[in-house]
Amino acid sequence: MTLTQEQKQFVEDLLGRMTLEEKIGQMNQESPSIVGGFDVPFSELIEMLTDGRISQEEFGRIMASAKQDLHEDDIRAGRVGSMMVNDPRQNNTLQKIAMEESRLGIPLIIGFDVIHGFRSVFPIAIAEACSFDDDLFESTAHMAAVESRAHGINWNFAPMIDAARDSRWGRVSEGPGEDPLLGSRFARAKIRGLQNDHSSPLNYVAACTKHFVAYGACESGRDYNTTSMSVSQLYNVYLPAFRAAMEEGAATVMAAFNDLNGVPCTVNRHLLRDILKGEFGLEGFVVSDANAIRECVSHGIAEDERDAGVQAALAGMDMDMGTHIYLEHLKAEAEKGTVPMEVIDEAVRRILSVKVWLGLFEDPFVPEELIAAYEKGLPEAHVGLCRRAANESMVLLKNDNHLLPLSRGQKISLVGNLADNPDEVCGAWAMAWKREDCVSVRAGLEAAGAQVSYYPCGGPEGEIDLEEADRACENADVIVAVVGETDAMSGEASSRTDTTLPGRQRELLERLLRSGKPVVAVLMNGRPLALGWEAEHVPAILEAWHLGIRMGDAVAAALLGDVNPSGKLSSSFPYVTGQCPLYYNHPSTGRPGSKSKFTSRYLDAPWDALYPFGHGLSYTSFAYDDMQVHKIGQCLEFTVRIRNTGERAGTEIAQLYMQDVSASLVRPVRELKDYRRVELKPGEEKKITFVLPLDALGFYDNEGKYRLEDGLFRFTIGPSSREGLSKELRLTF
Ligand code: GLC
Repeated sequence: MTLTQEQKQFVEDLLGRMTLEEKIGQMNQESPSIVGGFDVPFSELIEMLTDGRISQEEFGRIMASAKQDLHEDDIRAGRVGSMMVNDPRQNNTLQKIAMEESRLGIPLIIGFDVIHGFRSVFPIAIAEACSFDDDLFESTAHMAAVESRAHGINWNFAPMIDAARDSRWGRVSEGPGEDPLLGSRFARAKIRGLQNDHSSPLNYVAACTKHFVAYGACESGRDYNTTSMSVSQLYNVYLPAFRAAMEEGAATVMAAFNDLNGVPCTVNRHLLRDILKGEFGLEGFVVSDANAIRECVSHGIAEDERDAGVQAALAGMDMDMGTHIYLEHLKAEAEKGTVPMEVIDEAVRRILSVKVWLGLFEDPFVPEELIAAYEKGLPEAHVGLCRRAANESMVLLKNDNHLLPLSRGQKISLVGNLADNPDEVCGAWAMAWKREDCVSVRAGLEAAGAQVSYYPCGGPEGEIDLEEADRACENADVIVAVVGETDAMSGEASSRTDTTLPGRQRELLERLLRSGKPVVAVLMNGRPLALGWEAEHVPAILEAWHLGIRMGDAVAAALLGDVNPSGKLSSSFPYVTGQCPLYYNHPSTGRPGSKSKFTSRYLDAPWDALYPFGHGLSYTSFAYDDMQVHKIGQCLEFTVRIRNTGERAGTEIAQLYMQDVSASLVRPVRELKDYRRVELKPGEEKKITFVLPLDALGFYDNEGKYRLEDGLFRFTIGPSSREGLSKELRLTF
């Protein structure tokens, strides 16, 4: 995000005309609140629903008589800088009030959680990352920006780029997995897609990279929990994606809920001012997470809300999401001098800069004809892109005896409640999809012309029907069991202590397998599951995640062989939950895990991943040979030949890893340094080249300094983080 000199001058002129109250108003973000219809505060009503004092039906009836407060009067009075609304006509109304009825006519920046699509929902991020397709990452982000603007949203609280290594944490579903390089490339592509198409103000939004920082390292995978780590781990694992996003010009950043080494990110001056705004050069602004400034009291870092507000402002938190603490306390604190005017002016300058960059002062409105167009349906190109994203995000984990693909001549018994529920295909953080756009696995198979009979038999919650499972096996040639998690079992506040298939789904699989008929498991889930038992007993497993509105089309195409799965895991899968946190880029230790006793292992489970980062099978096979490496100037050039040795066309994702064998800090046994999608026809071979700058071979030390150290390096090119061709080089820098 860069401003012209003229735009910068506009911001300064406007800032110079604002009162202190109007400045603080820009730092305040509101959400529509629910008012009326009940005689207790809304928060109490939610408690009553949560603890069962009122039923869902009673809650619905009460809410039906309530109304939304869109804070029109606060907007008129200049007390609101941002709203969170996703209705285009409401947004047009609010912008009109802001532009025509407030004293200075400053438009609203309107944000919403558009994490993996607005109405055209594409796969959850952990799934899309399995495509290793930067072009896809960028295209889906651009689609999300276009649909956001068509609904009056000009700010996406995306991309979520928290590296995550512990699949007990429900928000692993929202980010690009465990690897800092894949996360960085994902972040760059998403920022480009969201922000860079200025051919029309309706084609770009402000991105909001989140959550800064290390939220994915929450202890024991429990959401909102404390995080602590060395400076080198912070810089080598959790900061790279944010650095990349800043280099791509991300307009805004959302601070994370967690404390890092004892200081909540929300009031962490070192993170916000020294690293994010200083070292990384953020041009736009920082917004808190929802209620996070207030929560600094619970953290025990602030005595009261006033103290929390002062700390946040001084730490570089520019906008308050939803607590009103800035609105209520900053004026007095500025007048007392505890919050200097230059702190407030800096925050407001950053906020106004993003609004100017978005073109909101010229025209923040959505044309009526555009609103009407989406009411008629989705653009076909958007649906097609959702289908492409779904196709590329599936990962074939196991396929014994080439059980897959199936043929249309086979009688398929489709089993599992998830298979016939279009409400479950979009996964966590998808709030604007319409049921008529969503395709379930069952609908996809029927539309694809498969001979399919459907037997619910049960799902992630509640009972299973074993007799129905027996009936499903009677006349089938093959059974396809769709098992996994509901969309509510991953995402925010969805940590699990047991990441095996929830409910009695394993029992259902056992019953199906007892029939002796071949069973295919299709997984619909938002996190790496502990699949040790399934891997041992189920002959074919297709990881289908929550693939978005066209999930059913993609799964059907993969099962029937119209699409050859090409995805590779963005996160490691454990045998058992007790292995978490689990990740491929781990240090060797002095006693690397092995089968012998006195090594880094467990007595009761394997020590390494069931399915490692980068793993993914195909309906064809690929062979790698003739790996070469040459030092050319300040780069290393790697070449390798890849051949399709099977009978079907396929796409292989070749991966380049390195190991810094001996350094001043222990380094991971493998680090992804590049990847490439390679399409190959049967029998076809291609020579691919990776060019790696020498300065990419370094790491950050415990002072946060980047180090390039002479020594021995091992480079591997292959189909996953566990196998490939290797070369060693001794390098001096
Ligand atoms: C939530 C999430 C954050 C989201 C925000 C607004 O608590 O942590 O990712 O953008 O609130 O909905």
